[in-house]
Amino acid sequence: MFKYLAPTLLSSLFLFHSCMESSDKKDETSIVIADNIDQHTHAKPDEAKVTHLNWRAQIDFEEKKIVAETKWKIEKDSLADSIIFDIHNLKINSVRVGGIERRDYYLGAADPILGQPLVIFIDSSTQWVAISYETNDGADALQWLDPQQTKGKSHPFLYTQSQAILARTWLPCQDSPGIKFTYTASVSVPNDLMAVMSATNGVGKNEKGNYQFAMKQPIPSYLMALAVGNLEFRKMSDRTGVYAEPEVIEAAVLEFEETDEMMKIAESFFGPYQWERYDILVLPPSFPFGGMENPRLTFVTPTIIAGDKSLTALIAHELAHSWSGNLVTNATWNDFWLNEGFTVYLERRIMDSLRGSDFNDMLAVLGYQDLEYDLARLPKEETSLYLDLAGRNPDDGMTDIAYEKGALFLTYLEENVGRKNMDQFLTDYFKQNSFSSITTANFLEQLDTIMFKGDSNRMKKLRIDRWVYRAGLPGEHIEPTSSEIQYVRSTMKAWSDKAFSFDELETSDWNALQWIDFLRRLPDTLSAERYQRLDMIFKFSQSPNNEIKAIWFERSIQAGYIGVKDELKAFLMEVGRRKFLYPIYEAMLSNDEYNSLARSIYKDARKNYHSVSRKSIDQLMDKD
Ligand code: BES
Ligand code: ZN
Repeated sequence: MFKYLAPTLLSSLFLFHSCMESSDKKDETSIVIADNIDQHTHAKPDEAKVTHLNWRAQIDFEEKKIVAETKWKIEKDSLADSIIFDIHNLKINSVRVGGIERRDYYLGAADPILGQPLVIFIDSSTQWVAISYETNDGADALQWLDPQQTKGKSHPFLYTQSQAILARTWLPCQDSPGIKFTYTASVSVPNDLMAVMSATNGVGKNEKGNYQFAMKQPIPSYLMALAVGNLEFRKMSDRTGVYAEPEVIEAAVLEFEETDEMMKIAESFFGPYQWERYDILVLPPSFPFGGMENPRLTFVTPTIIAGDKSLTALIAHELAHSWSGNLVTNATWNDFWLNEGFTVYLERRIMDSLRGSDFNDMLAVLGYQDLEYDLARLPKEETSLYLDLAGRNPDDGMTDIAYEKGALFLTYLEENVGRKNMDQFLTDYFKQNSFSSITTANFLEQLDTIMFKGDSNRMKKLRIDRWVYRAGLPGEHIEPTSSEIQYVRSTMKAWSDKAFSFDELETSDWNALQWIDFLRRLPDTLSAERYQRLDMIFKFSQSPNNEIKAIWFERSIQAGYIGVKDELKAFLMEVGRRKFLYPIYEAMLSNDEYNSLARSIYKDARKNYHSVSRKSIDQLMDKD
C-alpha cells in the first residue's frame, strides 16, 4: 500500500527493483512490495489504537478459565467512531465506554486463523474502553496443567504462549506487533500458587494470592505473558534470577549463572539493556518452544538444562531479543526475520565473546545445516526473508529462513563493512527505533542512510534487495566452517573407511555440539544392530542432553531402529517441545513398523502438549 510509505522510502523501493540485474531474473519468484499493513489483525490503528492496559483477572483452576477485564486507554483520530479489537474464542460479558455500559458493540464473523473483530463505538471524548470477558477451552495460548504434569506433582500450573497471534485467545487486544502499549495488572490466584508476568515481579508468594504487576515500557500484545504455579525465586545477580518449581531451581541457577555476563557482553556491543531486570522462568517440560522472550521474564523449556551449560546459547538468544524484537519489533509477521534473523546474529556474537570462536563456529555450522535443510524443503517463494503471509497463519513463517538466512545475511553485511561499523550501525539502529515497530522497507532505508550514507551503489553492489526479497541464497556469502566439526567429520570418515568398526572411533573429548553433528550425519544405511551397538556404547537414548537424545531418536528411527521403546515413550509423554516432537513422530509415521506405535503413544501423550504442538502433530497424523 503505497499511500503509507514515506516518499523517500518509495523512491528507494523503486530503486531496488529497477536495478535488478537480468541474471537475477531466472530464479526469481514473486517480487513482493513492502507495505506496513498487518494482515493478521482486525485493528485499524490509524483510526483508533490502544496505549495502556489495566488488566484485572481471576485465574480459576477449577473451571480452567480466566475471568477478567481489560481496561484500555486509547488514542484516536478525531473522526474515528469505533475502535476494533481482536478476540478469538473469548466470551464477552460486557463493554463499558468511558464508564458507561454499552450494548451496541458487535462481533464480526469468526475467521479460523484470525478470530473475530470486536467493534466498539466511541466518540470524540472517549479516553478508555473496558471489556469484561472470560476464556474457554478454545484459548489456544493457555496450557492448564494438572499437578501430575508438573515436576513437583503437587500443584497445578498455568502458562501462556502468545506469539504470534494467540494473545487474542486470552485477552481482547489489538493483536498486532505494530501496536505497543504499557500495562498494569492485578491477578488473583489460589493462595498456594504464585503468579508472574512479563512485567515487574515479586520474589515470593503472598498469602492472599493477589499479585500486582507493572510494565512501564511499551510492548506489543504478543509479549503479554502470565504463568501461575508453585514457583520459587532465586537470585543469580543484582539484575538476574530464576523462577522455577523448587524441584528444578538449583539446577537451573547453576546452568544459567552466566546470564549477567551475557548481558554485559550484549550491552557492550549493542547499547544499554532497557528493561531493568532479566529473569528466567523455567516451565514444565510441555512448553512448546525452547524459549520465549517475554520482556523482563524469558520463558524457557527445562530441556535446556543439560548440566554442563552446553545449551545456553538459547538464553543468549532470548536475551538478545531484548534488543531485536522487544525494543525494535517487526511491524508485521511478514517482517519476522527482523526479529529472528537479527536475534540469531546477536546470539552468536554474545556466544562468540562468552565461549570463544571455536564454540561459535560450531553453532554457525549447525545453523547453516538447518538453513540448507529448509532451503531444500520449502517452496521457493517461502525462502525470501520478507514474506507475504496474507491469508495464512503467521506461524508458517517460523522457519530457518527467518532465523538462519537472516543471520547469514547480517554476517555477510558484517564481513563487508567490518565489525566496528556493524556494531555502530546496530547500536544506532536500536537506539533510534527504541520501543517502536519497523518494517523491512524501514530497515533497508536505515541501512542505506545510516550505514551507507545514502550511497545506493553500495546497497546495489552488495545485492541487498536480492538477499531480502528473493528466494534462496545469493551465493556471495561465506559458508561457515568449524575446526571442531571438521574433526568429527574426519573421525567419521576414518571410521567409515574401516567399515564402522567401533574401536576406531575416538570420541572421549567431544562436546555436545560435536555429538549433534555426528548424529545428524550418521548414515541411516547402517544396520539396526549397529545402531543398537552405538546406543549401548554411547547411551544416546539416556543422554542428559535432550538435543542429543531427540536427534538420536529421530535418526535411529529413520534408520529403522527403535531400541529402547520405554525411553522413547517416556520422552514423548513428558516433553512437549515441538522442535523435538515433530521429527520423531514424522520418522515413526513414515516407517510401517512404527506407524501404529506413533499413533498409540500420541493418543496418550497429546493431552500433555500445548495447543501449538498439538496442532502441528495433529496435522502430521492427518497427512499420513
Ligand atoms: N520468539 C521465538 C519463539 C516463537 C517464534 C514463538 C514464533 C512463536 C512464534 C523464540 O525467540 C525462539 O526463537 N525460540 C527458539 C529458540 C532459539 C534458540 C532459536 C525455539 O524455541 O526453538
Ligand atoms: Zn527468537
